[in-house]
Amino acid sequence: MPTETPRLLIINGPNLNLLGTREPGIYGASTLADVEQLCRESASALGFEAELLQSNHEGVIIDAIQAARNNAVGIVINPAAYTHTSVAIADALRAVELPVVEVHLSNVHSREEFRRHSYVSPAAVAVIAGAGINGYRYAVDHLASLLHED
Ligand code: DQA
Repeated sequence: MPTETPRLLIINGPNLNLLGTREPGIYGASTLADVEQLCRESASALGFEAELLQSNHEGVIIDAIQAARNNAVGIVINPAAYTHTSVAIADALRAVELPVVEVHLSNVHSREEFRRHSYVSPAAVAVIAGAGINGYRYAVDHLASLLHED
């Protein structure tokens, strides 16, 4: 019987649906569709399937994280502005006990002071910021190496 391809859940938070047109000087010209294609290709090259979710709603993101407990082996998340506000997303990530990589397109440490604090980082095994959309590729790669160690 063929075994199911292990799945990585890749979450993009609020306003990332506007990528490509949203502050391109900060976030670049690539669109969310480009990010999603990159994630699918990177995951598949390493023997994983990418499940993609973009939502502008905190509760939708939390529901997806909770569901990942039963249907994914790792999570890549760009929580966008929820990075700096959401104890609830951080709690959900801790609750599911899956490896999490946090990604930011921009270098949040070189911007406004409020972007330097992340509620999510303590729940992540790695944080990638400032590498643009390549950050998602690095995140998938890192999760794959962690998971292949098991
Ligand atoms: C972001 C950085 C956040 O501070 C911001 O609110 C975003 C995007 C990034 O990818 O650089 O929406 O997560």
